[in-house]
Amino acid sequence: MDPKELPSILRDDKISVETNKLISSLLSRTDSQGQKLCKYQGCWYYYNTLQGVLNFQSGFQPQDTDIILASYPKSGTTWLKALTVALLERSKNHSYSSDDEHPLLYDNPHGIVPCLEMDVYHESSSPNLAKFSAPRRKFSTHMPLHAMEETLKHSPCKIVYVCRNVKDTLVSWWFFLCAVLKIEQSRGILESLFESFCNGTIYYGPFWEHLLSYWRASLEEPKHVLFMRYEELKAEPRHQIKRLAEFFGCPFTKQEEESGVVDKILDLCSLRNLSSLEVNKTGSRNDVDHKDYFRKGEVGDSKNYLTPEMEYKIDMIIQEKLQGSGLKF
Ligand code: A3P
Repeated sequence: MDPKELPSILRDDKISVETNKLISSLLSRTDSQGQKLCKYQGCWYYYNTLQGVLNFQSGFQPQDTDIILASYPKSGTTWLKALTVALLERSKNHSYSSDDEHPLLYDNPHGIVPCLEMDVYHESSSPNLAKFSAPRRKFSTHMPLHAMEETLKHSPCKIVYVCRNVKDTLVSWWFFLCAVLKIEQSRGILESLFESFCNGTIYYGPFWEHLLSYWRASLEEPKHVLFMRYEELKAEPRHQIKRLAEFFGCPFTKQEEESGVVDKILDLCSLRNLSSLEVNKTGSRNDVDHKDYFRKGEVGDSKNYLTPEMEYKIDMIIQEKLQGSGLKF
């Protein structure tokens, strides 16, 4: 594939001279699609993403009311963004009907909540953040927590991490990658992603270090880091959205609960509703079609694609890497 046709996150055309120098001192590898990755502070990044991470680390100044939504890619980021936007928008008394001016009806959740390293700090360490002010700044990231620790030191900002069964995450990643690269959904690609997943040399990997960085912080500082699970959101959405609202310091009032606001928000943010909106059927950003963020959204879908041997190997890795942490799948 012509490198210019790749989505910008996979390219290496935004690198400064200093970053190039840094990269030459880092461990690097080429992935199965021929894209270059390097390992910085224990995490694998494509080169443009590394530039965004470095820009963020040197330029971001947290505000106390900031919200940062974190995830390993394909773990439910889009859903978490939509729920967060809807929770914070409720002060504006939306009607939730089709003529409502709710931002989720006019933009994709990734447009409303930009990614720190891939959008906001992609090109500069001093972007103009003025438009992100009201009512609270909301950003997302796929960086592991340790990549943000120094920058967020002493900040009481709220970090929410959504995690997902890694087998479903892997399969979702396979579908997404093939859709974005507009290539055929082949077993060969799944198998090479699986290998990279298992040995940790994958974009934003190793996944176990990603998970553990947020898991540990959520135990140590529960007011600062909230750990959520995609599967729990699916199984008990009303309970989980209330948890999220409480964490943000804006719990539902009795009146809101009685007037059905909780269900209206869940319905607005459902995969069925979001994927049926015109903006999500037709729009695109950063070379990714909005529609590719929505697929089945089912728990356990990986069973339909992974062999029992693949499942076993991932289960064993999880068991070994998460041992003693209290985190279980
Ligand atoms: P599947 O590929 O298993 O269907 P991310 O948002 O982190 O990129 O994760 C994408 C996964 O979340 C996809 O899973 C997608 O279908 C699912 N998803 C997207 N929006 C969702 C929503 N509103 N509710 C539930 N799942 C959603």
